[in-house]
Amino acid sequence: MRIGILTSGGDAPGLNIAVYSFIKLAERKHELFAVFHGWEGFIDGSIRRIESTDLLPYLSMGGTALKTSRRNVFDNEDDVEKLVEAVNNYGLDCIVAIGGDGSLKASYKATELDIKVIHIPKTIDNDVFGTDFTIGFDSAVNAAVNVTESFKTTLISHERIGVVEVMGREAGWVALHTGLATMADATLIPEYPLTMDFIVNKLIEAYKIKHYALVVTAEGINVSDGIITANKHPTPNGIGYRLAELIEKTTGIETRAVSPGHSIRGVQPSAFDRVLAVNYAAKAYEAVENELCNVMVNYSESRYGYVPIHEVVGKNKLVSGGWLRLYEDFWVN
Ligand code: F6P
Repeated sequence: MRIGILTSGGDAPGLNIAVYSFIKLAERKHELFAVFHGWEGFIDGSIRRIESTDLLPYLSMGGTALKTSRRNVFDNEDDVEKLVEAVNNYGLDCIVAIGGDGSLKASYKATELDIKVIHIPKTIDNDVFGTDFTIGFDSAVNAAVNVTESFKTTLISHERIGVVEVMGREAGWVALHTGLATMADATLIPEYPLTMDFIVNKLIEAYKIKHYALVVTAEGINVSDGIITANKHPTPNGIGYRLAELIEKTTGIETRAVSPGHSIRGVQPSAFDRVLAVNYAAKAYEAVENELCNVMVNYSESRYGYVPIHEVVGKNKLVSGGWLRLYEDFWVN
């Protein structure tokens, strides 16, 4: 078989290991082609033969050696024509696409064009429906926890309130895990509307006891008229600083903000993400061997498996159920 492999959407730690592992397993029997810049590679012709050894220098790095793009090539008829032509010209029997929820839509569109796709879920946001973990999430949370812990040290010394803003546009998974791991006094996620008064009271209570207080917020929230709600289109590095201003104004306590932004996305992959990436790649290879197509590999209820792409596309995995109850127990009730 001739198999294309690509990474698409925002980069995430662990991608290089996923790509390496799949090629390593598949190259014994199959011909592998790297498609650079995600699906766009089919349009601009950046496709070439690849071997697992090409990935060796990148294994412990974040980012993706295959480069990536967020451009949606499936919305443009000319691009779609070029894409199908390229897939046929290269004689590709199957594409392994590694991407988040946006890229899952691209994978689905490709299947509608009779291109066979195996999707591997990745995104630091962990919001891909149908799987418990996406490649990159654990590394990003570890990085966010490190930033928060060093920030906390200076908050304690200066007796200040601090706000840490972390990525997570539509889902608050990174903020929730960072907040739990650092025992923040308040955590704000798009899934849970609150009022500024409520948050400020929590912070004042905490400050009275500890002489510092910590808020972790997802970037995907907005404050308007004292109400905190979801914001699907956040400005990069925006809400954390605005929250800090509002908190300082209301409490009279010096407040600072940090926004590690993309730097939590570019870190070395954690051991967990590396092992997840290897397992997803192995499962994707198993799908190739069993001629199973148009599926996303997943990890659910402690086992690796598959879900049909059409069943999970267009859905977002938001913080819900037991996670939301935990959220309430720590920060609301
Ligand atoms: O890939 C997911 C994500 O990191 C979101 O958390 C964030 O809102 C977005 O990407 C940022 O995108 P970009 O890298 O295009 O600025």
